Amino acid sequence: MSVHEATSEAGGHQLSRRALIRLGLGGVLGLFLLEVLGTFLSFYTPRKFGVFGSKVTLGDPKTFDLASITTFVEAKLFLSHVPEGFLAMYWKCPHLGCTVQWHPEEPSEDNLAKSGRFHCPCHGSIYDRHGQIISGPAPRPLDMFKLSLSGGKLVADTSDITQRKHWEPDQAFKA
Ligand code: FES
Repeated sequence: MSVHEATSEAGGHQLSRRALIRLGLGGVLGLFLLEVLGTFLSFYTPRKFGVFGSKVTLGDPKTFDLASITTFVEAKLFLSHVPEGFLAMYWKCPHLGCTVQWHPEEPSEDNLAKSGRFHCPCHGSIYDRHGQIISGPAPRPLDMFKLSLSGGKLVADTSDITQRKHWEPDQAFKA
C-alpha cells in the first residue's frame, strides 16, 4: 500500500467518525424537538375529561328509584327514572351550551313528584324530568345518550348524542 493510499484511508475513517457524531447529535436534537412539540401539542389539545365520550356503566336499574334524578359528573349526564323507563340526558343546554342543573327544591313541572326540575343558570331555560323544554330560549329538549344493558347494568354511550324535537314515551329505555 502506498503512503498516499494509507492517508486517504485514515481520512475516510475520520470522516465517517465525524459523520457518526453529527448523526448522533442530530438524533438527540431531533428527539428534543419532538419532546418540545409533544408538550406544546398536549397543552393545546383538548383532553377527554373523565369518561365522557365513551360507554359509561351507570349501575343496576333496580337501584334507581322511580322519579329519581341521578347526576353522573364524569359522564356529564342526568339519569332520570320515569314511569316509561330511563332517560340519560346530556347536561349541556341546547341553547348556548351552559351546564344545566337539577333543582330538587324548585316546583315540579310534572305530576310524578311535588318538586324538582332542570334549570339552566345562563338564560333561565327550564326543563321537566323528561328533559322537555318548559320555558326559556332553548330550542329543544335536553339531548340524550343511548342506553343499553350490559351484565344487568345500565350503560350510557356518551359518544352517541341524540337530539329530539319533543319528549316522546318511546325515548325512554325500558330495563
Ligand atoms: S345556555 Fe341555557 S338557557 Fe342559554
